Order: sequence, then C-alpha cells, then structure tokens
Amino acid sequence: MTSRLVCVSNRVSLPRKASAPGGLAVGVLSALKHMGGMWFGWGGELSDEDPGEPTIQVRDGVTYALLNLRRDLFERYYNGFANEALWPLFHYMPTRFCYRHEDHDAYQEVNREFARKLLPLLKPDDLIWVHDYHLIPLASRLRELGVRTPIGFFLHIPFPYIETLRVLPTYVELVRDMMAYDLVGFQVQGDLRSFQASVERCLPEARIENAETIRIGQRTVGTGVFPIGVDVEAIQASAQRAWGSASVRRMVASLVGRKLIIGVDRLDYSKGLVERFAAYEQFLEVFPENRNHVTYLQIAPLSRKDVQSYAEIRHSLEQAAGRTNGRFADTDWTPIRYLNRNFPHETLMGFLRAAHVGLVTPLRDGMNLVAKEYLAAQDPNDPGVLVLSTMAGAAHELSSALLVNPYDSRAVVHAIQTALTMPLEERRERHAAMLETLRKNDIRSWAQRFVTRLRETSTWRSPRESLVSAVRARP
Ligand code: G6P
Repeated sequence: MTSRLVCVSNRVSLPRKASAPGGLAVGVLSALKHMGGMWFGWGGELSDEDPGEPTIQVRDGVTYALLNLRRDLFERYYNGFANEALWPLFHYMPTRFCYRHEDHDAYQEVNREFARKLLPLLKPDDLIWVHDYHLIPLASRLRELGVRTPIGFFLHIPFPYIETLRVLPTYVELVRDMMAYDLVGFQVQGDLRSFQASVERCLPEARIENAETIRIGQRTVGTGVFPIGVDVEAIQASAQRAWGSASVRRMVASLVGRKLIIGVDRLDYSKGLVERFAAYEQFLEVFPENRNHVTYLQIAPLSRKDVQSYAEIRHSLEQAAGRTNGRFADTDWTPIRYLNRNFPHETLMGFLRAAHVGLVTPLRDGMNLVAKEYLAAQDPNDPGVLVLSTMAGAAHELSSALLVNPYDSRAVVHAIQTALTMPLEERRERHAAMLETLRKNDIRSWAQRFVTRLRETSTWRSPRESLVSAVRARP
C-alpha cells in the first residue's frame, strides 16, 4: 500500500473561480489532484477566541483540513515575522526587513498550533510535505510530539546567502529547524548552495557529504533541487477554451488591433513592478512609433495589504501608471491598463495567450510560474515572446526567453522592442525549445520526484529508533 500524501502550507486554497496567482497553491493542488491525499493549513478565517478544531471538506479525492487562527497571533506571525522579516530577507532585500521579538514568538506559537492540530489527523504511514517559509519549524514541533513519519520541506522562495541570512537574529535556530526534516528541497542550485553554506556556518557538528546528503549526528538529511513546473496540457486546454469566452473576446476586441504586452503578478515589491512601469514609460519615449500601437495590461491583485511595504508599493504604482497615462494617452488609447483584481485562472490563461509579449521582470523570485504559464498558454504556431528577469528561478530553465536584468531599464526597453518585432520563425523556435523544457519537468514530475525522494530518505524510522521509542513507551 502506498502512503498517503499530506501537504501542509500556511494557506489552503479550495478550488474556486477567482484565485490570486501564486506558485504554491497551483503546485500543491495539482500534486494532490494527481496523487490524492490531504491538504492541511489555514482556511482564511480568523477568530477572536479559541479557533477550535480544523474543519474537513472532501472534494475531487482531496481532503482539505482548514484551520482557523487567532487574529492577534496571525497578525504577528503572518504580517510580522513571515512577511516583514523572512520574505524581504529571503528575497535579498534587507532594507525592507523588520524584526520584532513578539513576531518571532507568534511564528513559533503558530507552528506549535499547526503541529498540535495536525497530529490527530495523521496516520502512521503518511508522508508529510511541508511548504514554504511560514512553516520552517513545523518538523521540529511534530518530532517533539512523537511524529516519526517522513517529513519533507520545499522552499518556494529563494534561500539567501549566509551574509544576508545572518541579519535575522534567530538564523541559527532557523537553520537547525530545517535540519529536522528528512528532505529539504529548493528551486535552484544557488539556493541549495546557500543553504549548505549556512549549515556549515551554523552547525559545526553537521557534515555536507554531497549535493544530496548532509550528515548530522546519527541522521542524514536529504537535500535537492526540484524546480517547480506547470501542468502544460491543462494550461493549453484552458487557454484554448478561454479564447472563445466572452471576457477574453471583449478584451481582445478592445485592443482594436494593437499589440498586447501583459504582466500578471501579485502586487509585491519583489515583482519589480515599479521598475517595470518605469521601463515601459521609457520604452514609449525611446520608441515613439509604438505609441498608440501597443497596450500594456498589468493585472496585479492586491496582496498582504496590512504590511507597510505593500501599501507603499501600491501607492507608487498608482502614481506611475497615472503619470505614464497622463503623458502619453490619446483620446482613443490608454498606454497602461492597471487592474488590482483577480480573474478566474482560465480567463487569465486566455489573456496570456492573447499577449504578444509576456513581461516577467521580478527583482528576485524563487521560480515564477507566470513565466511558465505564459509559454504554455501560447499558440505554438504564432507564439508571443517572453521577456524574463535573470533574477527569477525560471531563468535557469528558460534560456530561450529574452533575459534581462530588471534593474537595467535600458535592457528591458530594448527587450520589449525586440520582442514586438521578432520574426515568426524565431518566435516559434524559441517557444518550441522552452515548451519542451516545460514538458520534461512539468508539475507532475516535480511532485513525483520530491515524494519519491522523501519516501527513500526517511531517517526517523530506522528499526533501531522504532525499537528505542517502543521500549521507552512501555509502561
Ligand atoms: C508566494 C509564496 C506562497 C504564498 C503566495 C501568496 O507564492 O511563496 O507561500 O502562498 O505567495 O501569498 P499570500 O501571502 O497571499 O499567501
């Protein structure tokens, strides 16, 4: 009998119509749909009193266990430690870093709460797969409660080099907590190397044996690089279906023949939107022949609204979009269409298909699945061109995109112009090469590779250890 897969993440997304773009939710849902199992995490509700037990829902073979969290704790855990300390630091932006002891305590407390509430739902043969930076200490807390099943961790965002990481006052504890897993996975090689460097610095008793193993005491911790992919066939089918839908047809008709440049990102400073808006304005200056012939559609659903940096970035973007439109708009043309709202995933895939240029220019990104979705959504006979930041994990695989440094506005300007004027033959060649890469490492193989390794790497259930705990447990 194969073991049940239990995925744990901060936020659980029930399948619904309009969903914010975000690699984690798409990846976890897709893995669970193919492999079956349970998804445990916060269901989006906050309470002022004791939140009680998780509620369970079963849909399409996947069990969703939705946990409520206490409002005051959540505020310090999620807005505070996760998104004002870990997020900026892990994205190499220490100037946005903000650390408070109470936030760190709340982070630890929420992880204890996750462990306590998950424990009664576990079966002895489960494989537990924990996702992302919100839940780094979860394996340690589960081990303390006696859980001995294999636990893996996948970090969806970058792992910073030690000189950045050590800005965090609790960095040694964080590295130690990561070593409580049986398998720790990263998006790209560089992240794994940074982790190894941190282990070497923080834990003198640990020994890096090779790219796949770290030895610590009697245990070995598996490590690996598992770049997350997309479901190519499903996206192609969605994009084709959406093409005939009223919302996509209306949007395409409204372009009246102009070429479309598209960006789809959560409204996050790491996505480089301020820099992107500035580059687009410069593009209209440097290549005036494009005025009134292109439209830039930026879809940016609001995210983490209660965090100050996010409120600030929102303000800057409103100003930038207003300035560019004020400067260049005509009575029948708006240069930037800037929308802070969500769309159904299928509609988004239709919008991506309609775009001649996909603009994906984060300042730093673990992977960036929008880049991959953009490619999968294209018509292979007449594909658009991807302009991709070298700072996104996806750039390691998508070397046939037009790669740009997102801080180099001149490079972005010229890449947009090259994309808009690229001959069909070259567009097809680049697209075909990248589509093949996406197919080879799609979302299914990502999940399978991780879970297969996890099954092999468990170090907490050696016969000796089971015996020891059984003896200890005797009355
Ligand atoms: C990124 C993170 C995920 C997170 C998602 C949405 O992709 O890696 O862990 O779920 O953003 O962010 P949010 O704060 O809304 O959950």
